Amino acid sequence: MFSQEVLALAPQVIQWRRRMHQHPELSFQEFSTTDFLKEELQKIPGLVLETPTKTGVVAVLKGTHPGRTIALRADIDALPIQEETELPFASDTRGVMHACGHDGHAAMLLAAAVLLAKKREQLWGEVRFLFQHAEELPPGGAAEMARAGVMAGVDEAYSLHLSSTFPTGTFGVRAGALTSATDRFDIRIIGKGGHSAFPETCVDPIVIAAQVITALQTVVSRRIRAVEPAVVSVCMLSAGQAYNIIPGEVDITGSTRTFDRDTREKLPAVLEQLARGICEANGGACECKFTKGYASVINDKELTRNSRQIIADTFGDGAVLEIDPLMPGEDFSSLLDHCPGFFVELGARNEETGCTVPHHNSKYRMDEDALPYGTEYLYQLVLNRLSRDAD
Ligand code: NI
Repeated sequence: MFSQEVLALAPQVIQWRRRMHQHPELSFQEFSTTDFLKEELQKIPGLVLETPTKTGVVAVLKGTHPGRTIALRADIDALPIQEETELPFASDTRGVMHACGHDGHAAMLLAAAVLLAKKREQLWGEVRFLFQHAEELPPGGAAEMARAGVMAGVDEAYSLHLSSTFPTGTFGVRAGALTSATDRFDIRIIGKGGHSAFPETCVDPIVIAAQVITALQTVVSRRIRAVEPAVVSVCMLSAGQAYNIIPGEVDITGSTRTFDRDTREKLPAVLEQLARGICEANGGACECKFTKGYASVINDKELTRNSRQIIADTFGDGAVLEIDPLMPGEDFSSLLDHCPGFFVELGARNEETGCTVPHHNSKYRMDEDALPYGTEYLYQLVLNRLSRDAD
């Protein structure tokens, strides 16, 4: 179960978390959060701090012995939500809230740094603690940190996310594709506007858009292999200013979700072919724009197996839940472009204390009892991966 040092640090972890919770900051604006983290990290002997990006901070711990390099990453940004929890440490910033639990992620990583700095003589290799900004806002902080070089020489990367789906004391584990790739499409249907009484003199883009939207429903069912999960959703539609004028253009915007890399790469061409064909058949034209969001987080098989074992050894077999892929995006994938890694869902659902509200909700409350589980996992993970006889 828990080691003494994790239990001893647990009240401090809650304090750190509440401090960050009370002062949330939006993506790419985490200046005071970064200052707070730097202040705390500077108290830890043996850490070297780096600030390769405007916000966010990296702490490097070199073990006494040579070995592999591991990156542990926590995101630190909050969301544009007005908090409605009435907690004593609720957000003091109007319209901004730590509603995804990133305050907890940062607090657990800080705890791991404190604990591991005391174990330098037992570490064969190096740990990089990445307090990463801007997970919530594509193109995301992870890609920016990687461009700044923080992944150079890293052999393995790990991260976790609190989850209000799985109960406290459990870990949601999955080898292979864990989160979906989240991309955006913008299709502008170009027709010819005019008087509603004379449609024969116009090219009505609304009628064309209706056909395009209907045709998009066949992309997943007819063009993608049945065993590959994918979603194509139209979420925004805008056209027209008056009841008796056929407009000149219609804008269709939506998102796609995929797991498989090939499926993801294939979708833009399929969408564009459908839209263009239908527009031309109706005498119109179209412009298509595709914007890439986060890629899918793909957990390395071997590292997943290893982490699963660490969790089972520490908390028992019952703590490991084999989970299905998750649809939300996650920019940890940008770090996995550079090395293999493993991302775990840390159970934080507690029916008894009413911590059941989903993330990104104004009434989201974290079950702080989950924090020692994440801390212990990060601690044991590094002790294991950087031990003398690690495989
Ligand atoms: Ni999140």
